[in-house]
Amino acid sequence: MTIATGDDSAWPVGILFSQTGVTAIIEQSQLNGALLAIDEVNEAGGAMGRPIEPIILDPGSDPVRYRQMAERLIGDGQTNVIFGCYMSSSRKEVLPVVERYNGLLFYPTLYEGFEYSPNVIYGGAAPNQNSLPLATYLMDHFGSRFFFVGSDYIYPRESNRVMRNIVRQGGGEVVAEHYVDLEAGPEDFSEVIDKIAALEPDVIFSTVVGTGTVNFYRAYYGANTDASKRPIASLTTNEAEVAAMGAQVAEGHITAAPYFRSVAGERNHDFIERYRAKFGEVETITSCCEAAYFQVHLYANALRLAGAGNTDSLRAVLCGAEFEAPQGRIKIDPENNHAYLLSRIAKVDESGDFVIQREASRPIKPDPYLAVPALNDWAHTPAWVR
Ligand code: ACM
Repeated sequence: MTIATGDDSAWPVGILFSQTGVTAIIEQSQLNGALLAIDEVNEAGGAMGRPIEPIILDPGSDPVRYRQMAERLIGDGQTNVIFGCYMSSSRKEVLPVVERYNGLLFYPTLYEGFEYSPNVIYGGAAPNQNSLPLATYLMDHFGSRFFFVGSDYIYPRESNRVMRNIVRQGGGEVVAEHYVDLEAGPEDFSEVIDKIAALEPDVIFSTVVGTGTVNFYRAYYGANTDASKRPIASLTTNEAEVAAMGAQVAEGHITAAPYFRSVAGERNHDFIERYRAKFGEVETITSCCEAAYFQVHLYANALRLAGAGNTDSLRAVLCGAEFEAPQGRIKIDPENNHAYLLSRIAKVDESGDFVIQREASRPIKPDPYLAVPALNDWAHTPAWVR
């Protein structure tokens, strides 16, 4: 089926980030990143003289609504391009829609891996870029007895399956794996806190997302725990969640991501200042925001290079595309549509800022199917700059 790509005065793109519901904290951050980049592209004259025109919808953190809205955007011919989705359950709903109509989903979120679609450009980290270095760091510094806690949906369950293998490969053990409802409130974590106290793991690996993250960390803090001795480590607790829970609650906990607001360098400094000028704050700048930001720029550059907006033309130039992002130079791997990304591990300090503890010296090639035996490869010959 041929898709109309709008009239000849603009490049319409669908924007599917939730401004309401359980993951609004982080998706608002992604929305801001995309909108900042769209402003930058348009202020620079657009692509081939045409501005990018965002069609912003709010799926309310409900995966089914993502599918319905994607169907409306792409199926009805409003656009062939969507920037969107945080939860993997949302991406899984949108996937058949973009595949059926040969559209393009730019997905700016870390996820569990084990997926490839010619209709998705993956901008977040795969497990070899974040779970693996995080596990190695935790075993080096805290010990090898892991307690898993996650929200009950596909990303936490699959991510834990991968993490369990990594921990076992490293000679560690998973003492418990516990799931809470996606909408879990503060009281829903008391059983988890009791279990942690009873089992005394060395470290907690959390795949809780959204408001559940805020509730979990607050419950943990409220139980007189010591994060410096037994931290919560996560891939889904970013600056926006830390701002929501408060610095006191977050201090000492650990996150792995390609980007933190605290990354050094002029490129990131400029990005932060432009974000501050547009949104009046910087607390919501996260790795997912940065990924949404650089994916819009990749799209604009692809339009300029391809000289056309149809999916096949865009895909041909997006594969192998590079961009000087706030995290450093990134590149789309033509083998799998995922991105070469930096790998960083950071700890929250008393002000609520992430202080980088470990950092790869170069972008890590994405390996979404973990084809390379993990701990036997680069984790034993790490290219860390600190
Ligand atoms: C996620 O669900 N990929 C965070």
